[in-house]
Amino acid sequence: MTRLRLLLPLGLLLRVAVCSVNTITQCEMDEFKHENLCCQQCSPGTYLLNPCQENHNKSECAPCDSEHFISQKNKEPRCFPCTECRDDQEEVAKCSRTADRVCQCKQGTYCDSENCLERCHTCSSCPDGRVIRKCNATMDTVCDTFDSKPGQSGSQCFSTPLGIVVIIAAFIIIIGAFIIIIIIIIGAVIIFIRKIRDRRAPNNVNATTSEENIQLCK
Ligand SMILES: *[C@@H]1O[C@H](CO)[C@@H](O)[C@H](O)[C@H]1NC(C)=O
Repeated sequence: MTRLRLLLPLGLLLRVAVCSVNTITQCEMDEFKHENLCCQQCSPGTYLLNPCQENHNKSECAPCDSEHFISQKNKEPRCFPCTECRDDQEEVAKCSRTADRVCQCKQGTYCDSENCLERCHTCSSCPDGRVIRKCNATMDTVCDTFDSKPGQSGSQCFSTPLGIVVIIAAFIIIIGAFIIIIIIIIGAVIIFIRKIRDRRAPNNVNATTSEENIQLCK
């Protein structure tokens, strides 16, 4: 505990010291610290020969040689060498003072790893030419892998199950309609028969009542 008590103020002191040093020698975003000066960084395409002599002044910078580049503001003592394209690659962007050369796999080959340290691979071809996405320098061909008999195209493979579903649905609807029509007909027939019975029934009732009347009269 006593040790901790001693360490805490020490840490605070250290922090204050570091912060004050930072504020004293803090430079702008595009500057760098040189001894106790803030010097402007070199612009892209140039490297640092000599730092500035006065605070916030320009430094002495020199342009990159051919086949060398620097793409950002910097205080580098030299430019970086441009990438060279391998013999299985082709140049798609030239080397300039401010940008590296860009290489990619030649036509018909691809490389999908981060920096393509291995050699370019030959693009795959699809059976029956069923290509979903063509091969490019960074991605292999994507084939339609739907399992089907040769000669059938992908769209037909997908339309067949859909067609069956439509036919089954239509079949169910037709049978359903048929059943409903039959029920309606049967219902109509039953109602019709009942009505006919009801028409006959009142005559019988009248007959009985008249018989009763006759009996009452007696
Ligand atoms: C290759 O194709 C993919 C997907 O379409 C794309 O993201 C990528 O940028 C392409 N690569 C090149 C070098 O054109």
